[in-house]
Amino acid sequence: MHDETDYDRQYGLESFSTSELTREAGYIMDICRRHGLPAGAPVLEIGCGTGRISIGLALQPGMGHLLITDPSPAFCGIVQRKLSGLTVAAERVDFGILQAEDVNMLPAGSVSMILLRSVLHHIADVDGFLRACAAVLPTGGLFVCEEPYYDGYMMMGFLGQFIEDALTGSGYICTQEDQHRINHFISTMQFYSRRDIDKSQAEDKHLFRPDELMATGREFGLELTHYPNWRMTMSPEGNERARAGYFQRFFAEYVRYCMDWPEDFSKRVAEATRKYFRFFEPLETGGNTTPACFGTFVFTKR
Ligand SMILES: C[S@@+](CC[C@H](N)C(=O)[O-])C[C@H]1O[C@@H](n2cnc3c(N)ncnc32)[C@H](O)[C@@H]1O
Repeated sequence: MHDETDYDRQYGLESFSTSELTREAGYIMDICRRHGLPAGAPVLEIGCGTGRISIGLALQPGMGHLLITDPSPAFCGIVQRKLSGLTVAAERVDFGILQAEDVNMLPAGSVSMILLRSVLHHIADVDGFLRACAAVLPTGGLFVCEEPYYDGYMMMGFLGQFIEDALTGSGYICTQEDQHRINHFISTMQFYSRRDIDKSQAEDKHLFRPDELMATGREFGLELTHYPNWRMTMSPEGNERARAGYFQRFFAEYVRYCMDWPEDFSKRVAEATRKYFRFFEPLETGGNTTPACFGTFVFTKR
């Protein structure tokens, strides 16, 4: 639905530092190693996009055969271009045009880990896909993804309804364009949270509840551990530090980057709604984080 070559601009990823990407992918691999992934194991990445994690994975010491895939030839080309000229540390790197739904074309046991970041919510039949991944993975193999949680997004939509009042209260009168933006955001969050409509033509289809994923995974022999509000590309200390004020920042970044709101309007909204987020301050003690917005899911094939 969007021009692939504009993706890095929208998310502010036009320039990248290879050392930063390597460090980020190192945190991903730390989680995977903790869950039993051996060094040198073959890894399949589905939905590489512009390579935000692929580059660091390819540069990762101890990385085995890495198969980087996306259904978009344009995205694969962008990652290939970014990788050309870099000395990869992986045993071997290959590219493939792959729709997640076709993962069953891979021979059983051919990859030890299937990795997806921000991709599972685009796949129409999540249960069917998980079943197919479970069939490809060997015992002990991992399915790792970072995905949106239902609660946080549903709460963002609910909060969206107060944005205009909050702006009026701060002395700013919304233009028609502002009102359109706000309403678009509210209906986007509601659409995303709904489960009673056909989303086959929608880009973002699902928001996840760990209780449901746990039950689905169990059916296919996949045991789930999940880490709410935990970025797999961040250090454990960074993730711990990010717990305070998580929801407020997540909301501010979502409207700025995912909804592509202009910077000045995004700032104005963040300022006018600040007081509502104080509700969460006393809830964030003792390492608690709520509501869960985005996090890491690790399934182990038993
Ligand atoms: C939000 S981007 C994430 C890109 C990258 N993983 C990252 O973390 O920056 C979503 C990616 O999923 C891919 N995608 C969408 N539907 C897919 C599907 N059915 N199967 C595989 N990939 C899909 C898109 O082409 C896009 O590259």
